[in-house]
Amino acid sequence: MNAIKCIRVKLRNRIALVIMLAILLLMFGNKRNKIYETQGRINNNCVPLIKYRGKMISTEFEGFYRNVSSDKLMDPLVHRHQYQSLLNTGKECKKRHKFILILIYSSTYKFDERQIMRNTFGSISNFAKIDIVYEFVLGQTSDNVLQAKIEKESVRYRDIIQGNFIDSYRNLTYKRVFSLFWVNTFCKDAIYVIKIDDDITINIPLLIPYLNDKVKKNITNVLECLIILGVSPYREPRNKWYTSLSDYPFPTFPPYCAGHSSIMSIDVVIRMYTATSIVPFLWLEDVYGSGFIPWVLSIEIVQPNCYVKNVHQSFNEKPCHLFYKNDIQNYHNGSLLNEKDSYKMWKTIETGDKSKQHHTCMC
Ligand SMILES: *[C@@H]1O[C@H](CO)[C@@H](O)[C@H](O)[C@H]1NC(C)=O
Ligand SMILES: *[C@@H]1O[C@H](CO)[C@@H](O)[C@H](O)[C@H]1NC(C)=O
Ligand SMILES: *[C@@H]1O[C@H](CO)[C@@H](O)[C@H](O)[C@H]1NC(C)=O
Ligand SMILES: *[C@@H]1O[C@H](CO)[C@@H](O)[C@H](O)[C@H]1NC(C)=O
Repeated sequence: MNAIKCIRVKLRNRIALVIMLAILLLMFGNKRNKIYETQGRINNNCVPLIKYRGKMISTEFEGFYRNVSSDKLMDPLVHRHQYQSLLNTGKECKKRHKFILILIYSSTYKFDERQIMRNTFGSISNFAKIDIVYEFVLGQTSDNVLQAKIEKESVRYRDIIQGNFIDSYRNLTYKRVFSLFWVNTFCKDAIYVIKIDDDITINIPLLIPYLNDKVKKNITNVLECLIILGVSPYREPRNKWYTSLSDYPFPTFPPYCAGHSSIMSIDVVIRMYTATSIVPFLWLEDVYGSGFIPWVLSIEIVQPNCYVKNVHQSFNEKPCHLFYKNDIQNYHNGSLLNEKDSYKMWKTIETGDKSKQHHTCMC
């Protein structure tokens, strides 16, 4: 009886919440979105809460890690950190004093996509006196021809790191924790670490001054991204993101960062790496790496204004967003075919920078 009441309240709350959020978005659309966490509970039948702008969001997540049995913390990679890094390990980091590190998650076979990024924003290795280091993060492949090609590419560009796990979609959490391992082991002098997917174009002329401002103010504890809020796991076995009850037993995920990009200050990266050893594995790397881990650490997730936009809506606008997503990938079969759009977007950004267009952005 109590449980039923609880579910009804939850449902009603959820509807009310959606309406409230819509209103709030309209009202405070150009203020920052923040998530506040509380450890409060309504009652024993209901679940721990996340407070979002004063409104409660139900989640049972807390129980997931507060009382986890030790056999769930035995993964040699995620929990015991038995990583090895192959190729160009930290050489570019050691040459510099302080810099911004950009980690680009790339699949082994995506040579063309990597090249597009090197030719566009990746060609900027210093902006406003800030050094920028780019590294493509790959897993392993059992294809020797492919591996030989990657090694050749790595010698030529010195911007590839490769972790000791098979590169696959279901192994992305390994890639995430490997990245944390790698920064902690080889690249600790970075002041900020940006994580992006290979369909993102970075607005360097906007992002670097934005981060430099935080550096000057000594701001730490930074985790910024597009926040995904109140999402439930997919329980339909044929779904690409199918998550079984044994993978994750609760009805909602804690808030997390959309996988395509996040900004982290180095202190956050270091703390996240430590926390991975006590958080049970989930193959959804965005939920794991930018939902579970910040939750455990009580790191506040912030979504800056003008954070990300699709390239197709942006070619003819002032480049006012920090990141642009080349969303055409969704229409094809998994490879980023839209090379032209990436170049076009970068041109828009460069032109906007020359004419100082972003000085008039309303963000
Ligand atoms: C923790 O889990 C154990 C075994 O699964 C259970 O017996 C115990 O009651 C749980 N403790 C709390 C505080 O939930
Ligand atoms: C993930 O990586 C591990 C370690 O290399 C490997 O054993 C496993 O087969 C990979 N899983 C998938 C789904 O690729
Ligand atoms: C930032 O930290 C440095 C060294 O810790 C200090 O010298 C400087 O005054 C600080 N700047 C601000 C704006 O707090
Ligand atoms: C993707 O599409 C291209 C062009 O239509 C085709 O040649 C290729 O075989 C497809 N790849 C997969 C994995 O389906």
